[in-house]
Amino acid sequence: MTLTITRPDDWHLHLRDGSVLADLVPHTSRQFARAIVMPNLTPPVINTEMARSYRQRILAAVPAVDSFEPLMSLYLTNNTPADEIIRAKESGIVHGFKYYPAGATTNSDAGVTDIKNAYPALEAMQKNNMILQVHGEVVDPTVDIFDREARFIEQVLEPLKNDLPELKIVFEHITTKHAAQFVSDADQYVAATITPQHLLYNRNEIFKGGIRPHYYCLPVLKREEHRLELVKAACSGNPKFFLGTDSAPHAQNKKESSCGCAGIFSAPLAIELYARSFDENDARDKLESFASFYGADFYGLPRNTDTITLEKKEWTVPASFPLASEKIIPMHASEKEKWKMKMTSPT
Ligand code: DOR
Ligand code: ZN
Repeated sequence: MTLTITRPDDWHLHLRDGSVLADLVPHTSRQFARAIVMPNLTPPVINTEMARSYRQRILAAVPAVDSFEPLMSLYLTNNTPADEIIRAKESGIVHGFKYYPAGATTNSDAGVTDIKNAYPALEAMQKNNMILQVHGEVVDPTVDIFDREARFIEQVLEPLKNDLPELKIVFEHITTKHAAQFVSDADQYVAATITPQHLLYNRNEIFKGGIRPHYYCLPVLKREEHRLELVKAACSGNPKFFLGTDSAPHAQNKKESSCGCAGIFSAPLAIELYARSFDENDARDKLESFASFYGADFYGLPRNTDTITLEKKEWTVPASFPLASEKIIPMHASEKEKWKMKMTSPT
């Protein structure tokens, strides 16, 4: 069985910087035409000039056989000036601002400590039709880690939506039924990305037979009842839900550690993972719009015109990939995968 779809885009991706780009970019450029590249580098990408040079370094790592467009995102801080939004918009290369609550996840220390601090920038974003990409978890350490997303909706998103009703928001990597419901109920200014891990696994995966660091990401995997709602949302054909892998590379030794980093590296087999999920849920006909149409539509960008072909054919995922002088373990390492990307049509 084969499945040919319009070439997909990844609306949430981490590529890091420096020598690892040469190892990371090809995994994504092989499958996807474009990707929103997250700005949580050290130091974070906080202005258009930094995004411009980061974009050049990414482009330099794209293999000659691929055509790939990095879509840049800027890191919102307490001090992002309103005129940075104008510069970002005019550049044509910046497509959103990422809101990390300070301390929520990897390299989020420079993030926003109180959303009110960012209101001048957010008002300018609303006015200039610039998208806010939200890491939706409260950072209060007394809130149970499994409740942080649901709490964020009440404490931050609902008030933000009241104050700035026409600000375009992507609720990134949603993990709960509460988030899926919030997005479904919201107006056309709100959408969400869904990762492959949150479609395929529940939180048991982290603890199966011992602690398994390669299944740890933030927001953390949740209960089965939440996974089922995310599958329903992704497979529903509702244009508010689209593909964003949140592929987040960390070297093997940074994951397999007494304090392992958060992040799941799905880029080498991203579209295959989504194909498996949609296939298992009898929604093969909904994969294309989720992976290739709705994200572009929400971002106001043209849909791709070339295609990729996936084949239902078992193969074994490599145990690891090179990452500069180290190794990186992909999602589903050494296991059998059911779908394989076969080919790309010429552009
Ligand atoms: O698991 C995650 N890893 N979640 C994030 O929000 C950040 C990401 C990373 O950059 O490693
Ligand atoms: Zn991310």
